[in-house]
Amino acid sequence: MIQIAIDGPSGAGKSTVAKAVAKKLGIIYVDTGALYRTIGYYVRSREVDPKDSAAVEALLPNISVELKYENGTQIVCLNGENLGDRIRTPEMSLYASAVSAIPAVRAFLLETQRDIARKNSVIMDGRDIGTVILPEADVKIFLTASDECRAMRRRDELLAKGIQTTYEEVLADMQKRDSDDRNRAVAPAVAAEDAILLDNSGLNVDESADAVIRLVEEKLGKQGTDR
Ligand code: DC
Repeated sequence: MIQIAIDGPSGAGKSTVAKAVAKKLGIIYVDTGALYRTIGYYVRSREVDPKDSAAVEALLPNISVELKYENGTQIVCLNGENLGDRIRTPEMSLYASAVSAIPAVRAFLLETQRDIARKNSVIMDGRDIGTVILPEADVKIFLTASDECRAMRRRDELLAKGIQTTYEEVLADMQKRDSDDRNRAVAPAVAAEDAILLDNSGLNVDESADAVIRLVEEKLGKQGTDR
């Protein structure tokens, strides 16, 4: 079993790269941001302020979040319902970021993440995978890119999903969210001391995935990735 942790700010291409690597290595891709987005979605549906820790914490007993895989694709169910792309809007990004700063929310999601990595070889992306969730991961990568590059990618992603937005809007939202994620008291989004830093500003998806696979091979040896 192997554990690969990919952390980094939003729009660095973590999910696209991690998916490509998972496919190539025949392992499971775990998108942990989807878990925080799901909590954010529930909080929004109950019209609770996502920054009100006591109110959010009081909602947790009503929530069941389940991670499933269908044809290799991750599905997150909220109380049995697959929310699909409803958790992918810019508003849900901000809700996810706000609830993710609440220690009780992080504790609530901890075992779901560790459990899947105990039972499967995984490449898991998030903000605190190398530092908190899988501190013993075989390979830790901190993936980043320039603000401009990340905002352009995120804008294209949203437009492709039919969500109207502009570069300026995406850049401003992203910079606020990154700064909140980086500066929060609990599990801040920073690189683990033993993480390898990879800036993929000048690379496309294939090149980034190849760079990650090379790092994994260097760390685990070629056999580690022959599966
Ligand atoms: O990766 P994403 O954009 O879907 O994540 C949404 C928010 O969730 C992000 O702004 C911070 C939070 N998050 C986190 O705190 N820890 C993780 N492991 C993953 C996401």
